[in-house]
Parts: sequence; C-alpha cells; structure tokens
Amino acid sequence: MAVIAQRCPEHKVTVVDINAERIAAWKSDRLPIYEPGLDEIVFSVRDKNLFFSTEIERNITEADIIYVSVNTPTKTFGQGAGRAADLQYWEKTARQIVRISTGPKIVVEKSTLPVRTAEAMERILNSGERGVRFDVVSNPEFLAEGTAVADMQNPDRVLIGGHDTPTGQKAVETIADIYAHWVPRERIITTNLWSAELSKLVANAFLAQRVSSINAISALCERTEADVAEVARAIGRDGRIGSKFLQASVGFGGSCFKKDILNLVYLCEYYGLPEVARYWEQVVLMNEYQQSRFVSNMLASMFNTVAGKRIALFGAAFKAHTSDTRESPALNVCRTLLAERAEVVITDPYALESARADLGCDAKKVRFEPDPYAAAAEAHAVALLTDWPSFAELDYKAIYDGMAKPPFLFDGRNLLDHRKLHEIGFNVYPLGKPPLVHDK
Ligand code: UGA
Repeated sequence: MAVIAQRCPEHKVTVVDINAERIAAWKSDRLPIYEPGLDEIVFSVRDKNLFFSTEIERNITEADIIYVSVNTPTKTFGQGAGRAADLQYWEKTARQIVRISTGPKIVVEKSTLPVRTAEAMERILNSGERGVRFDVVSNPEFLAEGTAVADMQNPDRVLIGGHDTPTGQKAVETIADIYAHWVPRERIITTNLWSAELSKLVANAFLAQRVSSINAISALCERTEADVAEVARAIGRDGRIGSKFLQASVGFGGSCFKKDILNLVYLCEYYGLPEVARYWEQVVLMNEYQQSRFVSNMLASMFNTVAGKRIALFGAAFKAHTSDTRESPALNVCRTLLAERAEVVITDPYALESARADLGCDAKKVRFEPDPYAAAAEAHAVALLTDWPSFAELDYKAIYDGMAKPPFLFDGRNLLDHRKLHEIGFNVYPLGKPPLVHDK
C-alpha cells in the first residue's frame, strides 16, 4: 500500500487494522516490521496520501476499493485441521463490509485463499439488504519478504483475476490501472478468478518444491562424495531448470510455503485427488526431514550428546533481511536442541524479539544475545541457520578462541568459507558436502 500511495499520488490510501498498537507503530518513527527500503517510502507519503487508522467502519464507507489482507492461517481445529486455511477473518471482514457499505465497491482478495473462496465471499457480499453492488477481484501477492519493496517496484508480473462479465472486467481494469502507474502493461496478467487464486498457491508450491528437491539431493551428496553446490551449479546452468531456488538449506521457512502447500494438499483431497495431494505433501515432509536430519547430524558428530553443552544458533529469522521468524527452521532446530537438553543461545541482527515471541514457553530456556561473539563464547558448537551476510563477515578466529574445544561448526546455509574455518581449527559440517574434521 505504501508503494501504491507513492506511485499513485491522486489516490488516497488508508490502512486499517483492529490492532491499535500496530497502527500506532505505523504512525511512529519505528515501523512495526523491518523491510529494506520501506521506512523511506512510508515516511515520504505518510499523512500525504497514505494514512493509518483504527476507524474501520468509517474507512469502509468512504472507500471505492477495499484490499482485504487479513491473515488466513492454517486451521488448527475441526475439519481440515492442520491443512485447510482458516477463513474466519476473511468472512468476518466480508460481513462487516456488507453491513456498513452504502455504495458500490470493488473488493480485492489480497490474502492467500483457497480456490473458489471469492465465490463464497461474493455470495456473502451480495446478500446485503441494501442491494449494494460488490465486485470481487483476486490480486494475489508475489513479493517475498526482505525484498518486498524491490519486488513491488519491479514485479515479474501482476496477476488480476475477475469474472468474465462487463462489471467483472471493469473491476479488473480499475485494479490494472493502479499498477499501470509503474508496471508495464505486458506484465499485468488478467485471468479468471479461479486461475488467479490457484496460481498463487501453485507458484509457492513450485518454489518450495525446488528447495525440497535440492535439499533431498543434499542428503544424497553427504552419503556420496558429490558436493550439492556443484550439483546445483551444474544443473542450474540448464536454461530449462535455471539457477534460482537451488540453494541447499536447513529447510525453507516463512509464513507462506508450508501453509500454501498444505492448503493445496487439502484442496486436492477435497476434490478427490489423493495421489496429487500426496505428491505435494511430500514437499513439506521433505522439509521436515531436512531439519530433523540437521539436528541428527549435530548429535552424531558431537559424540551423541548435546545435553548440558552450550550451542550458539546464528540466526533466528526464516531467511536473511527479515525480522520474521514464522515457521523458521532455526526455531525448530532450537526446540529440538532444547529437548536434547542443550543450553541454547540465539543471536540474530533483527529477529530476536519475534524469536522470543514465537518460541512461547520455550523462550524461557533460551538466551537471546545480539552480539554473535558473546553468543559463541564458551559454546561447544555454532549452528548457522539464517543466511545473513553479516555472519560471513565475522572474525572466526576470535570466535574459535572463545569456544569450548573441540569446536564444531554446522553451516545450515553453506554460507561460510569452510576450508578457512577448518584451517582455524573448527570441525566443519557443511550441508551436502563432506565434513572437514580434525583428529578423526
Ligand atoms: C514466498 C514467495 O517467494 C513469494 O513469491 C510469495 O509472494 C510469498 O512467499 C508469499 O506467499 O507471500 P517468502 O516467504 O517471503 O516469499 O520467502 P522466500 O524468499 O520465498 O524464501 C522461503 C524460504 O525458502 C526461506 O526460508 C529461504 O531461506 C528458503 N530458501 C529459498 C532456500 O532454502 N533455498 C533457496 O534456494 C531459496
């Protein structure tokens, strides 16, 4: 919305939320999320044509277009628990829009939703007694965290789905005109509603599948003498495969991949396609395996016990350049190490606060340490779990000197210079490559 406000000065954009604390933070000098480049844009348009408010009803009444971006987490109860999307917030919002609106509006699905949700929402929206007209348009979001502003400024494509009726097409055009302020027309793809909804889930499923595929190969590389980075480079040079999303890791995280794949799995089951459901479910299972395999490797190399040993986790965020720790493999690794009774210290440049919140009652057992050198002091092992470039620039000789001996380093992102670390004296365990150990 900040980018829309910046690029479309003639439009007034108001962001509303029921959470007053969040709105207050958006109005303050310290925005509630870290996203490179976002501060500047928000500060440049705030109170000009970008506003933040908790007055939801008044803003619904005044708006011509409403982007609904409420959360759609995985259901934790009832039918489809653990897989289907929980649509209660969406439905509540739709009902609130009908109750309050006195004039026609375009309602944009921005939240990621299962296919055919728009249909249900349209029925709710058009059930009002006032006979107000609503057109529902699906405009799924493809930006990634950490590069959100850059992705929004220069998207590969903008996808807008609507009904093939005159008013449906007019609504699609209205939304397309907003993006056309800065996105070339040929990158604005218009489809029917269902294709737009499904494309969002499928895009994430394909990306996650690539990570799981290369992670599966990393396990095989560790048993053979192949090197996963070399394999990724070799296959990525094939233009049909391409080089992106082939970086082996301790697993993918974030609020989207797992949720969206499980959602896809649920849809397949719902439509009576169990084989298709199992196929996609395996992407998630592979991701869980990669994380548990990482900790098993730690245990096996550290003489089969980490009980009472201090372990420093470098990184809590699910990837670099974000403060987000939702579904972060780092927190899963942390929980497993706690269950093994390790003494865990976590360091991260931006994500310590959200790590503390997301760990819940386990947070009490963890030390949060902003300084990586202090985190590693007296530790038996360092496990690098987030690909923050700053972790590659540390003085590992100093870290080595401060650690318990023999020191172990597990690189869950293959970010560091393994040969150099080995020369310093570490026992180094990369992903999908032979370990570099001393005194075998
Ligand atoms: C993802 C998609 O990339 C966006 O296009 C989409 O809009 C977004 O979900 C969403 O649904 O809202 P995001 O979750 O921000 O974006 O993060 P990604 O950059 O896709 O990374 C996901 C995970 O995969 C991270 O944990 C990352 O470290 C991991 N990853 C990525 C790898 O392990 N290896 C790779 O080669 C690439």
